[in-house]
Parts: sequence; C-alpha cells; structure tokens
Amino acid sequence: MQGFKEISPKELQENTFKLIGKDWMLVSAESNGLVNTMTASWGAMGVMWAKNVVFVVLRPQRYTKELVDESGRFSLTFYNDEFKSKLNYLGTVSGRDEDKIQNSGLSLEFYDGIPYFNEARLAVFCKNLYKQKYAPENFVDEKLIDLWYQKSDFHTLYIAEIEKVLVKE
Ligand SMILES: Cc1cc2nc3c(=O)[nH]c(=O)nc-3n(C[C@H](O)[C@H](O)[C@H](O)COP(=O)(O)O)c2cc1C
Repeated sequence: MQGFKEISPKELQENTFKLIGKDWMLVSAESNGLVNTMTASWGAMGVMWAKNVVFVVLRPQRYTKELVDESGRFSLTFYNDEFKSKLNYLGTVSGRDEDKIQNSGLSLEFYDGIPYFNEARLAVFCKNLYKQKYAPENFVDEKLIDLWYQKSDFHTLYIAEIEKVLVKE
C-alpha cells in the first residue's frame, strides 16, 4: 500500500465509461499460491443490494476466472497510458502458457491476500457476491449472440462488493 491512500468509493472522480471501456483494467486474483491477471474492458461500477459494487464479465476459458472462482476475491487496477502495451500483452496471452506477470515487469503486491500492482494509479479490491453465466435464452437482443458468442463461450457475470479503494498519492 506504500504510495497509495485509501478513499471511499463515493470519492472516486472518474468517468467509468472511459476508465473501463477506453483505458482498460487488470483483473487479478490469487488462489492456493497461484496468481494471475488479465485485461478487461467490459464492466461497470455502481450500486446493488445497497452496496457499492463492480460488475465484471469473464469468459469460461480465462485462467483468471479459475482463480476468481476459487478465491471469491479480486482486484481491479487502472493505469496511465504508458502501460497500455503491457495491458495489451496481459490481455492477449494466457497465464496458463506464460509467466505473464514476470514478463510484464509489473511489481506484484498484495493487500489482504489480493494481488495488485504497484504501478497502478487506482486499485479497487472486491469480494464476490453473485455470479451467473449469461444464458442464450435470456438475450432480448439476440443479435448480440451472433456478434459476441460464435464459440458459445458465454461470459459469467460477477457482481462484487468494493471492499477498499486505493489511489496513488
Ligand atoms: C482490451 C481488452 C479487453 C478485454 N476484456 C475482457 C473482458 O472484459 N472479459 C474477458 O473475459 N476477457 C477480456 N479480454 C481478454 C483477456 O484479457 C485475454 O483472453 C487474456 O489473455 C486472458 O488471460 P488469462 O487466461 O491469463 O486469464 C480482453 C482483452 C483485451 C486486450
């Protein structure tokens, strides 16, 4: 946590459309001593069940999904533009095939057992509350299925409570 200060979710001064959709984020989790991270650009932050939450979607083949499922906890971290090529790498290669974290050069840290990276400008630590796999019969706009799920690899939606928010000082 060195170099970071804690703020409350309400103090976040971010446009989440840009933050998640354009700048991207890393989803990082640990289970049984194994750590992995992957890039994500779909998701949301908001309120559910009177809690501050994030919404994240993970496809079934993601190694990170395994660790999120096992631990129930993960971080979302956000970076300045200079890290875009690292995020691109972490979103192209699987941690099953390479030691991505080592290769990325990012500095792995832990808060309460949840991995994050010291280079982040913002880190959000989350505890999962709910998960559900998207089901083809529930799509109101069925064009989305053809567009995004030609391999039937439907995302699982995670709704997770925000436990802590750290910003770079
Ligand atoms: C910009 C960008 C955004 C991505 N967004 C998501 C996402 O929201 N959900 C997802 O499941 N995969 C997403 N991916 C793909 C994963 O990051 C990618 O498949 C990664 O290699 C998975 O790594 P892993 O197997 O080590 O978990 C995205 C990739 C990029 C480059």
